[in-house]
Amino acid sequence: MIHATLLCKFGALFTKTQFHERVDNYLFSDGMASNFPAQPTSGASFPPPGSIPRDYSPAGLEELWDVVGPVEAPPFTTTRVPELPIAVPSSPPALYPSWFAPSPKDILPKLKLPKGFKFGVATASYQVEGAVKNEGKGPTMWDWNGRQPGGVVDNTTGDIVDLQYYLYKEDVARVAALGINAHSFSISWARIFPFGTADSPVNEAGLNHYSDLIDYHIKSGVEPVVTLFHWDTPLAIQAYYGGFTSSKVVDDFVNYAKTVFKAYNGRVKTWYTFNEPRVYCSQVGGYPFNASLAPGINSSTAPYHCSYNVLKAHAGAVKGMLSRSSPFKRYVELSSETAFRAMKIQGEIALKNDDYVGFPWRANNTDDIAAVERHAAFRIGSFSDPTYTTGDWPKIMTDTLPPSYLPRFTPAEKKDLLGKRTSYHPLFRHAQRSHQDHLTSLPSMLIAHMLFDSNAGWAAGPSPDPLSEAWLQATPNFLRESLRELQKRWPTKKMYISEFGFVEPFEAQRTELFRITEDVTRTNYFMTYLGEILRAIHEDKLPIAGTFAWAMLDNAEWNSGLSARFGIQHVNYTTLERTYKRSALSLSEFYKAHVQT
Ligand code: NOJ
Repeated sequence: MIHATLLCKFGALFTKTQFHERVDNYLFSDGMASNFPAQPTSGASFPPPGSIPRDYSPAGLEELWDVVGPVEAPPFTTTRVPELPIAVPSSPPALYPSWFAPSPKDILPKLKLPKGFKFGVATASYQVEGAVKNEGKGPTMWDWNGRQPGGVVDNTTGDIVDLQYYLYKEDVARVAALGINAHSFSISWARIFPFGTADSPVNEAGLNHYSDLIDYHIKSGVEPVVTLFHWDTPLAIQAYYGGFTSSKVVDDFVNYAKTVFKAYNGRVKTWYTFNEPRVYCSQVGGYPFNASLAPGINSSTAPYHCSYNVLKAHAGAVKGMLSRSSPFKRYVELSSETAFRAMKIQGEIALKNDDYVGFPWRANNTDDIAAVERHAAFRIGSFSDPTYTTGDWPKIMTDTLPPSYLPRFTPAEKKDLLGKRTSYHPLFRHAQRSHQDHLTSLPSMLIAHMLFDSNAGWAAGPSPDPLSEAWLQATPNFLRESLRELQKRWPTKKMYISEFGFVEPFEAQRTELFRITEDVTRTNYFMTYLGEILRAIHEDKLPIAGTFAWAMLDNAEWNSGLSARFGIQHVNYTTLERTYKRSALSLSEFYKAHVQT
């Protein structure tokens, strides 16, 4: 099994001599096609951090673009206005006899979604926007990565992809027509600050773009949910000082965050600082990004220094946001409307964490139980303990890693991170990837959610195709337990499933539209997960206030490019035409039958 090898490296954990190995393999997931042997893993070129001068002129911007190289211009450069209303086809015929599987509207029909539930879809700027060099945007590290040898398996770049930068009105109207009431998207930092830094000029065109986009969402009845950072680091800050591997990033990020808060305060009610920082910080230490690390940082230490800087940037942004206009020096307490009003900040803020708490491979085996705890600490606790429970790294991490790897927080930083005890709400996501690990029976393996005994050999759930099977399995039967475990360890008053989604097997290889739109595996994934979410709300009393299907439409899936498709809508990459898949129509049918008005 491909991933057994990968996980063995995680498995033999934590003797002093072995932690380097574990650190190096800290994590690759989310379309990181690290298992593709044919892909080169060297040959990336990046100017040594500090070698490009901070020249904030048009010529300075061009010098940064030179690091990327030429980009493809989009076929048009004005915002298209869709013809309304958008025609939504009626529900497709039932997939199965009803005794086998109910149609979406008949899934647990008595259980309803709570009032005000955000039934959303999600995207991220690099993955959908295109127009990478238009309207003053600076280059990002993903513009660069797409051009490095082996950076992306099929050489997809973000140059055009879905061209949502100019097609956002159509995209918003199309999901509104389904009844979807929220869209979680990210803002590209390099569109607002092409040079990234706090002392560099703001790009008004970028600010205006997102302002219009937010207004259009509101006008269309689709709530804008905004993430400040979804991995598309401005190339400038990487070139100036090594990006998130340097502590210099903190002030620059906080400045960017404040600029955005100020611009859209009142129109955006749910904010995220960082998307899946653990995954991001793992990328940073790996090829080809490891060609651009801050002085003194290497591939092994990079993920941890990055995590440290991300957490400080998160705390700084949240504190900055809230202390701007008020006597309150602490973070938002979700339950406290008064505090919100007093601070004149309307909204809630958190980071999007990911991953799962596992189950021991062999119940009652102390090695396996310890492995579950290590996994939970490194892959969730690393960001959730500091922000939700202790203000600090999990003890397992500090017991394992010296400060040269894992910088320690000062008492003041801990206080900042934590704020009041209930200050953040976790936005847990990705229950779908609960189980990468049907493993061999090595001791001390990180085993997650494997309910069968170690000799049974069953996968925890079906996986889409060889490309994604190392990290993606559909496991609805483990979802509720996963969510309960998260709530037990990091209690909160409100939870969002800030992403969930699935790749349809071999969809990228299909050419006939009627086969592409029949995305049965993805549909089953969404329907089974949503049914279990209803049960989690009603039977487990979990405070789930929204779900966001990944993704609103096909898009550039990071290192997998267009070879892994997550969209509930197909995109024709010649014409840019969008088509609803069965999953989109099923989500619509499910929502209409379960919404409470
Ligand atoms: C998580 C990431 O946030 C998103 O960017 C990615 O495309 C999906 N998961 C699928 O891998």
